Amino acid sequence: MMSFFHRDPPPPSLTEEHVEHFIDQRRKEDAIAPFINPFGLFGFVFRKEFTAKDGTTVIFREPTIADAEALMRFINSVIREDRSGIVMDRPVTLKEESEWLKARLGEIRRRTTVLLVAEVDGKIVGNCDISRRMWKESHRAVIGVVLAKAVRMIGIGKAIMTACIELAKERISGLETIELSVLDYNKSARTLYEQLGFAEICRVPNAMKEGSEYIDESIMALNVKGKGRGKCKQQSQPIAILTVEAGTACEKVISRT
Ligand SMILES: CC(C)(COP(=O)(O)OP(=O)(O)OC[C@H]1O[C@@H](n2cnc3c(N)ncnc32)[C@H](O)[C@@H]1OP(=O)(O)O)[C@@H](O)C(=O)NCCC(=O)NCCS
Repeated sequence: MMSFFHRDPPPPSLTEEHVEHFIDQRRKEDAIAPFINPFGLFGFVFRKEFTAKDGTTVIFREPTIADAEALMRFINSVIREDRSGIVMDRPVTLKEESEWLKARLGEIRRRTTVLLVAEVDGKIVGNCDISRRMWKESHRAVIGVVLAKAVRMIGIGKAIMTACIELAKERISGLETIELSVLDYNKSARTLYEQLGFAEICRVPNAMKEGSEYIDESIMALNVKGKGRGKCKQQSQPIAILTVEAGTACEKVISRT
């Protein structure tokens, strides 16, 4: 199917030529985007400065395809951590990261994803993305957030999630619920999510396996339906806490509290 903007259909796999093509295309868009009416065809490119608790200046901005290598380096540094809190279990290649980023950039243009990177001194140290589900689930979206170890616990996680949620509320039409999953050992992440108003709606036993160890996870949700601008700190009301059988996608309820 031809895209709305009549761009080339996505290539089956990325060659250097494709990467160059997308860099070039996005550069042209980035150059004109700030001058276009925010409510116009292309929308605006988000960029915001934030001062962390320790005084570090952080830029939250939307990425371009040229960020693929920096994003790869950053995410691989987290993947290598013990108990990283994220699902990926081996370093990603530049090709994989470029393909992932290219897909996200397409979704950003189609207004089904928002993605911000956190940059300190020109280096990518974090990212946060919200992607809308499809079809009959398109009122729901999933949020993910990751920061490099060196910049944690100074308020960047909370700030980038807040910015991303606000952007999603502006950009993604029909958005009602933002969901995430958090592993049981990840207490700091859970504290942050609760502060932002996320509430547990579901638990998945043995959701992840790290080595031979099984780890349970919580699915948490934030209701953003009908919330005004600048108010993402809303408490979701869980309808019920469900415990589901391992390996099912919250479908087979074992118990309900
Ligand atoms: C989870 C993560 C994004 C949090 O970001 P962060 O910048 O460290 O968090 P913040 O500094 O914004 O902290 C927000 C709140 O969480 C709480 N918090 C943060 N770190 C904490 C810790 N180690 N222990 C307890 N609470 C903690 C604080 O209460 C803080 O609230 P405050 O501002 O009122 O003090 C970050 O730690 C991270 O990237 N971890 C590795 C990857 C990961 O786990 N991603 C999430 C997968 S679900």
